Amino acid sequence: MSEPAPGPNGSPRPSSRESLAGAGWLCRRPGSYKQLLTKRNLPFSWLNPVPLLQSRNDLLARERWFGQDPTNERRRDWLGDPPHEPDLVIDHSDSDEISFIVMGDTGEGDASQYAVVPALLNAGAGTAFLVICSDVVYPAGGINDYLEKFFRPYQAYPAPIYALPGNHDWYDDLTGLMFHFCGVESAPARERASAFSRAWLRDLLWRKPQRAKPKALAEMRRLRSAPGKQPPQPGPYFAIDAGALRLVAIDTGITNSLDRDQGEWLRRVSADRRPKVLLTGKPIYVDGEHHAGDIEGSGSVDEIVTDRQNNYIAAIGGDIHNYQRYPVTLPDGRMLQYLVSGGGGAFMHSTHQIPRVSLEGVTEEEFRCYPLRGDSLSIYSKLYDKKLRLGRGGLYIPPDQAAAIMAERLGIESSRDSAKLVEASHAARLAAEKILPRRSRAHGPFHLPFSEFFDWNDPPLFKNFLRIDVSPNRVRLRCFAATGCGEHEQNPPIEDAFYAELQDGGEWRWATETRGEPD
Ligand SMILES: [Fe+2]
Repeated sequence: MSEPAPGPNGSPRPSSRESLAGAGWLCRRPGSYKQLLTKRNLPFSWLNPVPLLQSRNDLLARERWFGQDPTNERRRDWLGDPPHEPDLVIDHSDSDEISFIVMGDTGEGDASQYAVVPALLNAGAGTAFLVICSDVVYPAGGINDYLEKFFRPYQAYPAPIYALPGNHDWYDDLTGLMFHFCGVESAPARERASAFSRAWLRDLLWRKPQRAKPKALAEMRRLRSAPGKQPPQPGPYFAIDAGALRLVAIDTGITNSLDRDQGEWLRRVSADRRPKVLLTGKPIYVDGEHHAGDIEGSGSVDEIVTDRQNNYIAAIGGDIHNYQRYPVTLPDGRMLQYLVSGGGGAFMHSTHQIPRVSLEGVTEEEFRCYPLRGDSLSIYSKLYDKKLRLGRGGLYIPPDQAAAIMAERLGIESSRDSAKLVEASHAARLAAEKILPRRSRAHGPFHLPFSEFFDWNDPPLFKNFLRIDVSPNRVRLRCFAATGCGEHEQNPPIEDAFYAELQDGGEWRWATETRGEPD
């Protein structure tokens, strides 16, 4: 099957919602990212015990085993004395119109991360900055790991890059992120827990941060050395005044909790009347569930986001490595867009395990995801077949058949015309029952380890990033795909596009773009 031509005037190529080629199933040539890879960019493997051991702070932070998660206390230590600029605001408001990139969960340092780069540089042309939303560097945010997992891949991005931490960045006590983004070169002293307490045992086992290697540091500084390319950010949580919009970036630590001080700061910077978008490590709506996000002491992040006075129009989270959009209608009639955008480079979390969406204010009809659930089931069937050597080809479900199976199971219509015409074979149905048994929990306890196990580095890669264009009366969001196919790098497919417009009464109204709408 040949790939449909791009639209007129260089408009984007068809997306995965329109054609198999748009999803990257019919790759004509490998992407130029292969030339960016060096001998050091070996495939990252979660089967290797070393990254799992380096990620052990995740278990140590769990309250049920070792007492209180120390992250909130530690974050307070990092902030130290009251900062010079208490609202921690970065100013990009010199123009009313501005564009920027948001992408999440980037840093594996292998082909799946580098494959995003050419599409990012092309679709991100003219953007004023980029924000990495969670998990900058795997497995544990180490200072020296930034060379191959941050500085080398993004050396050609010409504008500043900021970052908010995910749980993996905290596995190194946040040392790498504070060093590279905030310019803090020495970690604050840690208070000693009383001997033989649970906290003492936890601190004993806690992963100790990497020490900076001077040679690696010199190379990192050289790679993004242009003035303004790597400016200091005021802390692990911060705000950016981006034209007419305020971005509020929070640090949800390891266990999705904000410390009391950060909660107060969030309430303060949210009270500003400008329209706002929240950026968060842990998403508020994800995998068909709602997680309000605790604030130490009292309240939740979502209470602040949904408060009409605070004028939030959207919230974007990382942590889960795919794209999801929940346009939630609040009881007062306003719509807030809740996004997951964690497909920035690391392994892919499946979307076929997301159950039919049925939540207060949003249903399956409004929900969007990338990859489509059928494509997710198909690529997983291929990986099950190959990696587990179970089916010898018998477990593989072709993408349109997988789409037909998912549509039938969820009671929805396939997005892709070619899938609407397909009837799933008996063999495909049997394979689907083995991979995703109908009676199992939609998001079982082995979901995460299994997603990590199924890491791959060849197209279609189903990565994504967001481009956001802001003017005083309009905010436009587009989810671009990075498939890894050479033909998609110049003009990457757009998987989702929607915008908010300011109405006469001061409310923002959201609409979804349809293909062919003018730029
Ligand atoms: Fe992640």
